[in-house]
Amino acid sequence: MGFVVAVVGATGAVGREMLKTLEERNFPIDRLVPMASPRSAGSKLPFRGQEVTVVATTPEAFKGVQVALFSAGAAAAREFGPIAAAAGAVVIDNSSAWRTDADCPLVVPEVNPEMIGMRPKGIIANPNCSTIQLLVALKPLHDAAKLRHIVVSTYQATSGKGHAAVEDLKQQTRAWAAGEAIKPTVFPGQMAFNLLSDWKAATTPEAEGYSEEELKMVFETKKIMGDQSIEVSPTCVRVPVVNGHSESVHAKFSRHLSVDEAKSLLRKAPGVLLDERPYAPGQHPQPIEASGRDEVFVGRIRRDFADPHALNLWVVGDNLRKGAALNAVQIAEHVIRTL
Ligand SMILES: NC(=O)c1ccc[n+]([C@@H]2O[C@H](COP(=O)([O-])OP(=O)(O)OC[C@H]3O[C@@H](n4cnc5c(N)ncnc54)[C@H](OP(=O)(O)O)[C@@H]3O)[C@@H](O)[C@H]2O)c1
Repeated sequence: MGFVVAVVGATGAVGREMLKTLEERNFPIDRLVPMASPRSAGSKLPFRGQEVTVVATTPEAFKGVQVALFSAGAAAAREFGPIAAAAGAVVIDNSSAWRTDADCPLVVPEVNPEMIGMRPKGIIANPNCSTIQLLVALKPLHDAAKLRHIVVSTYQATSGKGHAAVEDLKQQTRAWAAGEAIKPTVFPGQMAFNLLSDWKAATTPEAEGYSEEELKMVFETKKIMGDQSIEVSPTCVRVPVVNGHSESVHAKFSRHLSVDEAKSLLRKAPGVLLDERPYAPGQHPQPIEASGRDEVFVGRIRRDFADPHALNLWVVGDNLRKGAALNAVQIAEHVIRTL
């Protein structure tokens, strides 16, 4: 038996990955309803060897939909999420719109799958891409030695800002190579051959100086782990990479955790690919290796020189897949077992 599945934001970077993921995982679908803004109505997308026609996102379009995978931004999620849920769909949303709502579970299936059933609003939130890969890597270590504090610096790819952002990077790179002036269209400055923090500033007075992206990592880690005592010190940076986020992680635990014990836990951890190459130049997880892959790559596990209770790690994942589309489809796979 198959289901009626809507993909809202199907023409976007995450939406396209969503269609690929549904196809690759052979998700049971009787009818697929790809939706986007009215601008894209009538356009075609490839799915299962055929073309499907995109429709505008309207209340009527959700009639009969059982699972609605949203990746259309926060405004569309706020407007259409409750409409889809009222029409009988279970909504799984990739935007930040519902993540802080106490009645919407925030789920990484490898970490807190038990929360999937607890959805009084019929809406499940998919976490921020950087938080997902961080927690897939740290959950097995947390279960063994209880995390106290995470210091994380991100190296986030341009695809994390959407389809148009990747085009901006490519255009800037072409202009740079031709010796022409760089004219950013999406980024707030030069992205090619540069680093930028391009997220909005946090507005709460106690978070002065942090970006919204950084605060997401703090809040979401506590909610997903179900542990308000875990402290997170984040610095988020965009790098001129097309796809695949990287993270430098310093994790402090409640007890000594050796590199060998951490490796043996991560070797059998779901969703993790442990990279055991001894460090040498170029021998470590890289965005171009993780891009297109489902697993979160974890490598360069090192003891900390200053703190015997801490480890340092390098974590790389495909932000469009595990950071968005794959995580949402995995949640949907849990959901349909009980529909
Ligand atoms: N990129 C990532 O790595 C990533 C990771 C995690 C979460 N997310 C989140 O996922 C969402 C989508 O991101 P993206 O990177 O895929 O962005 P994107 O490439 O810019 O795509 C946006 C999609 O949303 C659609 N859309 C925009 N406004 C709409 C509206 N009012 N009603 C219906 N559809 C609308 C667009 O349709 P048109 O083509 O018709 O404009 C397009 O399909 C965002 O909330 C983002 O924060 C992204």
